[in-house]
Amino acid sequence: MEITFYGHSCFKLVTEEGKKILIDPWITNPSAPKEVDLGPYDYILITHAHGDHLGDVLKLARTSVTEVVCIHEIQQFLLKNGVPRVTGMNIGGNYKSGKLTFTMVPAVHSSSFPDGSYGGDPCGFVITLENGKKVYHAGDTGIFGDMKLIGELYSPEVVILPIGDHYVMGPMEAAKACELLKPKVVIPMHYGTFPVLSGSVEDFKKWLSEFKVDVEVLALKPGETAKI
Ligand code: NI
Ligand code: MN
Repeated sequence: MEITFYGHSCFKLVTEEGKKILIDPWITNPSAPKEVDLGPYDYILITHAHGDHLGDVLKLARTSVTEVVCIHEIQQFLLKNGVPRVTGMNIGGNYKSGKLTFTMVPAVHSSSFPDGSYGGDPCGFVITLENGKKVYHAGDTGIFGDMKLIGELYSPEVVILPIGDHYVMGPMEAAKACELLKPKVVIPMHYGTFPVLSGSVEDFKKWLSEFKVDVEVLALKPGETAKI
């Protein structure tokens, strides 16, 4: 799998069989790189309705090629706004599409549309790839005890966790989350986009060693791609 960081919580994944997935499609975020793949994507996943996650979905998903996967309430919003292919699901469910499976897991946060209306509950996604490997994108969340359950049930090799603090987990909580999830690789996100998201990779690593958590920290710069 190839994973590219587009800044904030936005990631592009290309699977072994060439499926293109975009998560939290805010490609115009302040730290986004100049060169961004505008698609079409096979899948766009949305973790919740806040503007910094819904992002540019209305521009990117108006194509019959792209399937958006999100919670029911966001599905209704997108269908009303002219997005042709949207699969709505809800927390705890698995959605199998071809050789991929998308599992919607809880996130502890809030979710509203830019006009303030209820956006359904926030979520994270566990993506099971063609080869069975799993990637967990936590969305916006605080730490919660059931991360241990997510670790036990799905054993994600790669986890993508917010570390920015204030609106999401800070470095200390994110390090503890790694202890619960037990991944091989952690990719930090949702930090540095705005001054208020002050959590740093340096602090995150400090807390990981404080908690004696053995994990590889893959701190991608916006625009950077890694093969995992
Ligand atoms: Ni949010
Ligand atoms: Mn956010």
